[in-house]
Order: sequence, then structure tokens, then C-alpha cells
Amino acid sequence: MKITFAAAVPAPAKLIARIVDQDALPAGLEPLLVEAAQTSRFAGKAGQVFESFLTRGGTVLRVALAGAGKPGDKDRMAALEKAGAGLTAKYLTSGETVLVLDFTGSSLGAAEAAAVLLGARLRGWRLDTYRTRLKDEQKPTLAEIVAVAAPEGTEAAWTTESAIAEGVEFTRELVTEPANVIYPESFVSRCQARYAGTGLDVRVLGADEMSALGMGALLGVSQGSARPPRILAIVWNGGEKDARPTAFVGKGVTFDSGGISIKPAAGMEDMKWDMGGAGAVAGTMLALARRKAKANVVGVCGLVENMPDGAAQRPGDVVTTMSGQTVEVINTDAEGRLVLCDTLTWVQQEFKPAVIVDLATLTGAIIVSLGHEHAGLFSNNDALAAELTAAGSATGDKLWRFPLGPAYDKMIDSPIADMKNVGSRYGGSITAAQFIQRYIDNGTRWAHLDIAGTVWTDKPGPTWDKGASGFGVRLLDRYVRDQLEA
Ligand code: BES
Ligand code: MN
Ligand code: ZN
Repeated sequence: MKITFAAAVPAPAKLIARIVDQDALPAGLEPLLVEAAQTSRFAGKAGQVFESFLTRGGTVLRVALAGAGKPGDKDRMAALEKAGAGLTAKYLTSGETVLVLDFTGSSLGAAEAAAVLLGARLRGWRLDTYRTRLKDEQKPTLAEIVAVAAPEGTEAAWTTESAIAEGVEFTRELVTEPANVIYPESFVSRCQARYAGTGLDVRVLGADEMSALGMGALLGVSQGSARPPRILAIVWNGGEKDARPTAFVGKGVTFDSGGISIKPAAGMEDMKWDMGGAGAVAGTMLALARRKAKANVVGVCGLVENMPDGAAQRPGDVVTTMSGQTVEVINTDAEGRLVLCDTLTWVQQEFKPAVIVDLATLTGAIIVSLGHEHAGLFSNNDALAAELTAAGSATGDKLWRFPLGPAYDKMIDSPIADMKNVGSRYGGSITAAQFIQRYIDNGTRWAHLDIAGTVWTDKPGPTWDKGASGFGVRLLDRYVRDQLEA
């Protein structure tokens, strides 16, 4: 979706939309439009869209009103995004190619207008690569939104927001692609292609380097797969020279069959998106580079495929991690933590980050706890937890904090090794987080986000269609803006 700006409504416009506050139709609307809107009970609630046809100057026009709720609502920005998204959802496959969004007489500020545009753009993303038989009426037609008479500063605000949109879209693309297309090597090459010209630096580790570093846990997961593993580090140095970076670390299991502890067949196809953490990291780094964030950030993706095979690791195997700690692998399906532990050890040794945030589709248990509304947040630092929670509320990538503590930590002690990779049936998301915490150096501020419930959706949301949500990009970008750049 292309977003452009114009001073006046372009002459050939056929579809014109306006943003309307609740119970406040703008002055100067045609009486027919006012009456039609009122008769159809259009009240301007967030996300409500009303459409009518009119003749203006001898031509028939399609006119849409998109509701944004009340100006003082606490979710005002989200409501404005919804207004934009509602328009895209309605007109994406309507046959219209251009939507004119007329801000004439609007009382919105620049950031608010940009929120409308962001919602409109995000709702329009889809991946049609593999649909070769779409009927014409199923194909997206809407390609451009022209913002007319946008509030002063909207174009500048949009420069930032469009960077975020690009990041979210890249994440959705990576998450949506099937596992025969996106696997560790192709994840890396897709990133390298997308990062060309952005100023991002990329480093890649292969299996030989991982062996040399002693990454026995990550390699243990990978050894049943025909696809070789990769660690991808994406470096953005937009901040002060020599300032310690913030690290975003993602679980990138490009397919999780469970390994020898194999998953049931029903729903296994979902495990193509078990790289959602890595996808969020890759998209966030693109967003940060595109908007030239004034911060030092490194994004690191631990990329493997978890498969059953003659060479696969067995339940009961003991592996030695890069940190020197040993792990008894009770269940080969608890593989995410095995990938993350070695990735995290390397990140700390290599980059000495001041803060680490890891993102992982780590446990089914987090979906039992929180459903699809919030991701789980675990942290060793109250301030960091609060900052991330605030960034989540502000962007809609919502977080809910869980406890950590020695009693949970004890649950992963092993009789034969330093720890085992699963606890008991209970508190499964917490024991997973405790496992990861055993690999965080003393004194490093760290948060773990269990995003298993928020990466993929079965029904459309405010600014996404069903499928990949792009969760995490807006959250991490906002964290960087508010905490590292402020
Ligand atoms: N990738 C899964 C977690 C998952 C499950 C994500 C459902 C999204 C939807 C993870 O690797 C896994 O299999 N976790 C196990 C852990 C268990 C064996 C301790 C789980 O949650 O069942
Ligand atoms: Mn698993
Ligand atoms: Zn997994």
C-alpha cells in the first residue's frame, strides 16, 4: 500500500473517506450524507465504517466515513489506527485502486493522522505468492491512499511510522512463509536481501563455528534436521559510539515437529511460525534502520529446524552448553530454550549488552494462561518490566508479567546433569523462563517474552487480517524510542 500526500482532492478521485469522531459528523457534509449516516446508525465508533454514493459536480462518488471514537478516549491512538484499518479492510478488494483520505477541517494532530495511515497500511498487508487461482473479485485492488490536507507535520510523522510498517510487514512475511521456503539458511538470505542499503550489518555463524564455540544444546536440536543451523546477528549502531548495545534475541525454530518427542499431527502445520521471535527481531531491526534510530541495538536470531531422524537427539541425552552448564534433554519438544541458551551465551560474550530482551514462541502453557490477548513477560528487573509493559500498552502488543523465583528454579534440577529441559506439568511457562535465566550473566538486565499466543491469529484483529500479526516489532520499536532515544 502506497501512502502519498496532496494539498487538494485529486480530480479523478472516485472514493473519498473522512475520519469522524463519535457523535460528531463534520460540518459541511451534504444533507443526504448526514441523513444516510444517521439512518444507518453510524455513530463514529472506533472502526465503524459508513459508505454512501453521492453526485458531486456531475460525477458519482463513493464517500466513506470512518469512526474514530471520542477525542478524549484513553485508547485514542488505537481507535485512530482502527479507523484507518477499517477503511482498508472495506476497500482492499473492492475494485477501487485509490482511496482519498480527506483531512480538510480535521482537528487531528500530525501524530494522530499518522496513526490513521499506519492502521490503513498495516491492515492491507497480505501474502498472495502461492495463490495462483484467485478470482478477480478476490484480488486486492487498493494500492494507494492519498492523504489530502493532512495536518501539519503528518508527512514527517509518517516517515517514522512507515518504517515501523515496513518492519511489521517483513516480520509477517517471514512468519507466514512455509517451512520449506523459510529455513535457517533462507531466513538469513531473505534478511540479507532486505537489509541491502539500510546500513544494517549482518554476521552469520554456521555449524562449524557453533561446534568450535561448544554450542551443544543448539546443535543437539539441529542434529535431526537436514537443514544446517544458523545464528544471525544484525547490528545497528545509531547511538553513541561505544555505548553498550541493547540486545533483542529471537527463537527461530523454522519448523518444530517436536523431534523424537514428536507432536500430534493435528495442528502441526502451525509450527512453521515457531520462528516468530526471530521474525520479530528481524523486522524490528529493519524498522530501526529505516527510521535511523539513535540507539545501539543488536538483533540476534537462533535459527534451527527441530526434526525426528536417525541422527536426532534422544530423550535422556545430556548436552553441554556453550556456558559449560549441562542439560538433560527430557523432552526434545522443549527445544526453544535449548536454542536460546547457547544463543544468549554467545550474545553476552560477543556484544556485552546492557539489556537483553528475548522473544520466543516458547510454551503452549502461555496460551493456556493468557489466551491470545497478552504475551507473557518475565524479568529480573522491575524497571525493565515496567518499561516494556508500558511500550506494550502504547502499541497494542500487550504484555502481562509472571513471577520468577528459586522455588520454580528448583523444578528444573536434574539428577544427572546441571538441569533438565522441562519441569513438571505445572507452571510450564515459568520453568521455561527459569531455564533461560540460568544463562543470563549476573547483573545483566533481562526480560523474556513468551509470544506463543500472539504471533498468529485465527481471526482478523484491528490492524491485521487472520494469520501473522507481526507481534513484537511495534513493542520493541517503542521501547527503543522511549527508553534509548528519549
Ligand atoms: N513451539 C512450542 C510451543 C508452542 C506450542 C508454540 C503451541 C505455539 C503453539 C515449544 O517448542 C514446545 O513444544 N513447548 C512444549 C514444552 C513442553 C514439552 C515442556 C509445550 O509447550 O508443550
Ligand atoms: Mn517444541
Ligand atoms: Zn518450539
